[in-house]
Amino acid sequence: MSFKEKIDSKRLPKHIAIIMDGNGRWAKQRGEFRVFGHENGVSSVREVSEACTELGIQYLTLYAFSTENWNRPKYEVTALMELLVKTIHSELKTLNENKIKLLAIGDIESLEENCKNELREAIQITAGNTGLNLVLALSYSSRWEITNAAKCLALEIKSGKIDPEQISQEVFEKFLNTSEMPDPELLIRTSGEYRISNFLLWQIAYAELYFTPKLWPDFRKEDLYEAIVDFQNRERRFGMTSEQLNP
Ligand code: IPE
Ligand code: IPE
Ligand code: MG
Repeated sequence: MSFKEKIDSKRLPKHIAIIMDGNGRWAKQRGEFRVFGHENGVSSVREVSEACTELGIQYLTLYAFSTENWNRPKYEVTALMELLVKTIHSELKTLNENKIKLLAIGDIESLEENCKNELREAIQITAGNTGLNLVLALSYSSRWEITNAAKCLALEIKSGKIDPEQISQEVFEKFLNTSEMPDPELLIRTSGEYRISNFLLWQIAYAELYFTPKLWPDFRKEDLYEAIVDFQNRERRFGMTSEQLNP
């Protein structure tokens, strides 16, 4: 029985987030430059987006470029940005055909002009699509997002729109980039690293974490199905006892 057949379609996670890691190592194993790994990672993005669309998942968030990734060698940063522009451009038709709505989180203003324009255009063109919400985390880091939220909230207080006494988790969340999205229920990281690397720290408070040694360019639909089956076999207790959940 394949993993897909084991999935209970009534208990799907609404939101899956993925830390797409291991492109550089994948390329190195083949005696190629790191960028070759990034290029091949695009096929995996296509695979998981298609799989999520077929399953009817509502949100898929992909960590594509972190705030810290700006510290990589300039040629790699440039190559990643060029790949992003090229991919958004070439995939736009497929996104629309599959009714995928493109969204972005992160410090989008910090991206280069052509990258920003390509992204904005694709977001606008796909805005009316009603299928999968495909969220790209670009120039994103959780500490940036939370600090930015605190700043925006402080400005609202300063201008008298919010009383500090009104601050609650719900109010604070409205200032995060993800304010319109449900929290991820399943977080996947590829490449065998057991860390979060500044990704969605607030939002994954109760997410199920799934780590796989597979390098991102090798990640296929079946790997996603396997992660979902694993997720569905877990008991999510949210602080309660097993007996409370199964009286
Ligand atoms: C993930 O692969 C892609 C980005 C972070 C942009 P890496 O480039 O981090 O690959 P490894 O971890 O060095 O193998
Ligand atoms: C995390 O991968 C960021 C993305 C996948 C975009 P990294 O490869 O940058 O993470 P660290 O630095 O090894 O933790
Ligand atoms: Mg990495």
